Amino acid sequence: MTTVQPAEFSTLREQFAGKFGDAEGARLFFAPGRVNLIGEHTDYNGGLVFPAALTFGTYAVVKPRTDGLYRFRSLQFAAEADTPVDRVAYAAEDDWANYPKGVLSELLQLDGGVYTANLRGADVLYFGNVPNGAGLSSSASIELVTALALTAIAGLTIPTLTLVKLSQRAENRFVGVNCGIMDQFAVGMGKRDHAVMLKCDTLDYQYVPFRIDGCKLIITNTNKRRGLADSKYNERRQQCEDGLKWIREKLPQLGSLGELSIEQWERVRDAIPDPLIAARVQHVVTEDARVLEARSRLEQGDLAAFGKLMNASHESLRDLYEVTGFELDTLYEVASAIDGCIGTRMTGAGFGGCNVSIVRDDAAEAFQREVAERYTAQTGLVPSFYVCEIGDGAKELRWD
Ligand code: GLA
Repeated sequence: MTTVQPAEFSTLREQFAGKFGDAEGARLFFAPGRVNLIGEHTDYNGGLVFPAALTFGTYAVVKPRTDGLYRFRSLQFAAEADTPVDRVAYAAEDDWANYPKGVLSELLQLDGGVYTANLRGADVLYFGNVPNGAGLSSSASIELVTALALTAIAGLTIPTLTLVKLSQRAENRFVGVNCGIMDQFAVGMGKRDHAVMLKCDTLDYQYVPFRIDGCKLIITNTNKRRGLADSKYNERRQQCEDGLKWIREKLPQLGSLGELSIEQWERVRDAIPDPLIAARVQHVVTEDARVLEARSRLEQGDLAAFGKLMNASHESLRDLYEVTGFELDTLYEVASAIDGCIGTRMTGAGFGGCNVSIVRDDAAEAFQREVAERYTAQTGLVPSFYVCEIGDGAKELRWD
């Protein structure tokens, strides 16, 4: 367990008491946001991703109840939800609280409902410092912190990987967002100072030390809101499925686009009559190869080559997959032109949200100043910067 910073969180217990009456016996849990270093729009294609957990995320103060009532409150959001355990249902007006409710719903169904008797109610207060809707997985962090907290206070020890999959199901089936597994995996399984290389069809994974000596990892928020649910995300998924269907006419055994090597793809690409769909597949296949190469480059300490792969990833997402848009492309242009920027790309689903860059220490301040100036001049938006560290996945924290 890690100790939280008292200065920042000294009031959390009081705030909990203010909302629920009494904080005696309350426990504290945390789940991070995530940044994806490379491997975008590959997870739902069974391909490779290379994300890392951040040190900011969502905190949950939790106290058990015994009357079967779950009460969810937040310090950021106005909506409040009181949910009896036998009536967990989606409600639009519950807004953000549909994430914890979705997790609860999945917990109740886990392994045929064997844990239902343990799930006897809780009061939960959330506090998050991941910017919302910015592509840094604020929703996955709410899901994982809920899954961990509700099982822990119920006396259940459930493997993190089970909680990861369950959280994805909550988002897919309860909230109705058809995301892949990357966000929940990184948020649940992340490891301090490591990136996680994950093969999304088998869930085989490997921790790779994230050594960027002499550089900083800087996230830049376009501050253009990204609406994943109403975006073109599902359309891209469908296009990949269409591509797979056509390719299967030549390679009937192919399980997913993530199994397709570049060489195989070159041989079968004529199977796809629609150039737009072919471009989508081309992105997925080449992005997968970039992830593999990025891992080797990182292991070799070749940051320059790693950075070039980040740039190539952005250009592929811009030109072939078409999920960047004016703001992200403007950030990419201005960031990549700055001396000392080793690599830069959009991160997450795209359509707004954030960019991630590796920047030399001595250039980090100028980077933020110049990117802000040029980006604002071109877009009229003021970007935010987060110089970040790579942290651990979801865990319980101590109060003292
Ligand atoms: C969102 C989804 C992920 C993944 C990325 C794109 O973050 O939640 O599952 O598909 O977009 O790589």
